[in-house]
Amino acid sequence: MYRAGRVQGISALEPGPGQQVLDLGCGTGLNFRLLRERVGPSGTIVGIDRSAQMLRQARRRAAKAGWDNVVLIRADAVLMDPAAIRATIQEQGGAGSSDAALATYSLSLMPDWRKAWANLTALLNDDARVAVVDMQEPVGWARLLTPLARAACALGGADIAAHPWQAVEEDCADVIRASARSGHLQIRAGTLRRGYS
Ligand SMILES: C[S@@+](CC[C@H](N)C(=O)[O-])C[C@H]1O[C@@H](n2cnc3c(N)ncnc32)[C@H](O)[C@@H]1O
Repeated sequence: MYRAGRVQGISALEPGPGQQVLDLGCGTGLNFRLLRERVGPSGTIVGIDRSAQMLRQARRRAAKAGWDNVVLIRADAVLMDPAAIRATIQEQGGAGSSDAALATYSLSLMPDWRKAWANLTALLNDDARVAVVDMQEPVGWARLLTPLARAACALGGADIAAHPWQAVEEDCADVIRASARSGHLQIRAGTLRRGYS
């Protein structure tokens, strides 16, 4: 159900070989294979999540696949200090600034997702690419499935009305827009424009 958004989000993000990509709210690392296919062995994947349990599984996934270019950091995206996160990434062999970032199904779980977005963009290069994939109520005939979609989001703690991809619309240039699953999954990607407030 949710893989479609992941695939389209990473395709729109277009991370290139050798780049460093942040995965905010990375969970168990379900994005890692797709990211690794893009950045290759010389690139770096930085997964940030507040859950130690999720990160344990992400670490296991990376180890099993033999990806040694995965940096995992336990932090709350809303409360984190970007300077401290930069230092931690560098301590673990990564670069201070990242070339790209994505957040799949994670910002809608954060009560102050705008603060998390600001913290995320503070970790990026000036011309970084960013992608947000998240959920809304289905549209068209699939409106009939709205109670199901609401229940699924509520169960996972997500706010279906958060629409955090707005941040990409507001802060990025050349925005790519896509959707899947009758509009339930919304995908946005673009190039960061600095100087926004
Ligand atoms: C629904 S899961 C999605 C995981 C992954 N992005 C994916 O696409 O499979 C949401 C993840 O966001 C993490 N998360 C929620 N709030 C967070 C916060 N404030 N800071 C960091 N991670 C957070 C959760 O621990 C969880 O792993």
